[in-house]
This record gives sequence, C-alpha cells and structure tokens, in this order.
Amino acid sequence: MTLKVAGLTKRYKEKKILDGLTLEADQGICAVLAPNGAGKTTFFRILASVLPPDEGRIYFNGEDIDELGGGYRRILGYLPQNPGMYPHYTGRQFWDYIAVLKDVDTVQAEKNIEKFSSILHLENELKKPLKNLSGGMFRRVSIVAALINDPKVLLLDEPSAGLDPKERVRFKNMLNELAQERIIFLSTHITSDIDFISKRVIFLKNGKAALNDTPEKLCSCLENSVFEVVTDAKEADNYKNNFFVVMEQQEGDAVKIRFLTNKGNMPRKEWKSVSPTLEDVYLSVYGL
Ligand SMILES: Nc1ncnc2c1ncn2[C@@H]1O[C@H](COP(=O)(O)OP(=O)(O)OP(=O)(O)O)[C@@H](O)[C@H]1O
Ligand SMILES: [Mg+2]
Repeated sequence: MTLKVAGLTKRYKEKKILDGLTLEADQGICAVLAPNGAGKTTFFRILASVLPPDEGRIYFNGEDIDELGGGYRRILGYLPQNPGMYPHYTGRQFWDYIAVLKDVDTVQAEKNIEKFSSILHLENELKKPLKNLSGGMFRRVSIVAALINDPKVLLLDEPSAGLDPKERVRFKNMLNELAQERIIFLSTHITSDIDFISKRVIFLKNGKAALNDTPEKLCSCLENSVFEVVTDAKEADNYKNNFFVVMEQQEGDAVKIRFLTNKGNMPRKEWKSVSPTLEDVYLSVYGL
C-alpha cells in the first residue's frame, strides 16, 4: 500500500504555499511537522481531495486519485483541523449521518462506532447534543467519524489538539494499533505526540519537504552536537551569542542551558552530551 505525492503546487494569490512537494508513504504513521501557516492543512485538504492543487498528482497504489474518485473516498478517513458541527445532533446521530454520507454498510458502521467510541471513552457522551460537549470531547467524536468506514488512508490534521494528557496517551496507543494496516498522515506541532509511533517525519518548509526520514535518522544527524551545561547568567549570554540555545532554565542562581553546536566544535569538559530529540531537530530546522 503506497500513497505517492508528486510535485504538488498550490498558490493563494501570488503566494506559493506548496512548491512541488514530493514524497511517498506506505503503511505506518507519517507525521507532518511544521509551524503555523506552513501549509499542513492545505496539504491535507489536497490529500483528502477536497482542494484541487494547481499542479501535481497523488497516486494510491499507483492509481491517480482523481481517476479513482469515489473509490478513493471510500477508503479515506479525514479529520479536518476544524471539523464542522451539527450542533443539535447527538454524537450518535452525527455518526449515523456520516455513515450515510459515506455510504458505509450499517452493520459495519455500527461495529466501527462501537469499537472506536469505547477506545476513546465516549460511552457517556453519546446522548448529549454536540454543542454541549467540551472541545476535547467533540474532537474525539470527530475522530470516530473519520474512522467510521475503517479507512485504509487516514488523514488527521492536528488530532490531539485539545485532548488532555491521559486522552493523548490513549489516542497515541490507538493510532499505533491502527497504523499496523493503514497509511496515516498526522500533522502536529507537538513532537511528543509522535515520539515512538511515527515511522517517518516530514518537516515542511517553503512548500517542500525540507526533511523526510525516520525519526531515528533525523535525530542521529544531530548526534554529538546537543549539549547541556549549568552556568551563571553572564556565561549564559555568551552561550546565546555563540551557540544555538534551544532551552534555558533557571535553577536557583544557576542557569541550565541546552544548545546545539556545529559538528566541528570541540566539546568542553563541563558540557554534558545529551541525546538529540525531534524537538531539537524541529528547532534546528525552523529556528527560535
Ligand atoms: N483559502 C485560503 N485563501 C487564501 N490563503 C489561504 C487560504 N487557506 C490558507 N491560506 C494561507 O496559506 C498558508 C498555509 O495555511 P495552512 O492552513 O495550510 O497552514 P498550517 O500549516 O495548517 O497552519 P496551522 O499550523 O496554523 O494550522 C497561510 O499563509 C494561510 O494564510
Ligand atoms: Mg493547519
């Protein structure tokens, strides 16, 4: 199973949001990490075939999704960043409605609703109108809606926004399980959301995939160049002038600093070498 994106370009007025974006994903979670306004939602809307690109094509298992048409939409699940709401529907009515819209077999829809709503702890929320749900609860209802047809390709645009820490962990575990037999694209700004579960991470920059690799490979590029040191306020300023400081933390009178160096720099003995994280990679790509 593969989803291939070839040369996607999208402009709004003169501004190029996507600029020949090219990548390929197979089974597993492909995380799209980028700051606000980088084009994640634009990319996901094109992947979901609700927004036509100016140029470029998308292929599912070698077939153009435009030609697959309804066949593509039947295997697709899409959680938009801001899903629409039918305020007076209950969760249950909303799902039934989505199941009809997506032309999902009733028995199948029932099975999927039961399975995913219990994983996402929604049993007690189903009789309330959607307008009375909290933001996180509504997000969970929308996630179930995206899964109603048991999709092979699942597009989740910032799915964990608004979820509390406990629900984030449950959701992450669920994604990990879902990913065993699906292609999942997931966008986020929060690197901890995708730690340990993503097979591939894409950093969007200037409309292109600036980096596209496994999390391990991305982190290993920064091996031996991330350090921590505990110092005083004056020295801390020196560090900020000479290195790329990614974190600064007051510890009593002292200051703890995490910073990136160039590979060529000889480490000083007071520096503690630390394992690079995806957050370090993110900051090295986009700056502070
Ligand atoms: N319909 C539109 N018309 C004009 N400009 C748009 C439209 N939709 C998006 N844009 C612009 O395209 C750029 C990318 O927006 P997009 O929503 O794809 O970013 P994003 O990475 O999803 O951001 P966020 O992290 O805030 O969700 C932004 O500059 C945005 O203002
Ligand atoms: Mg967005």
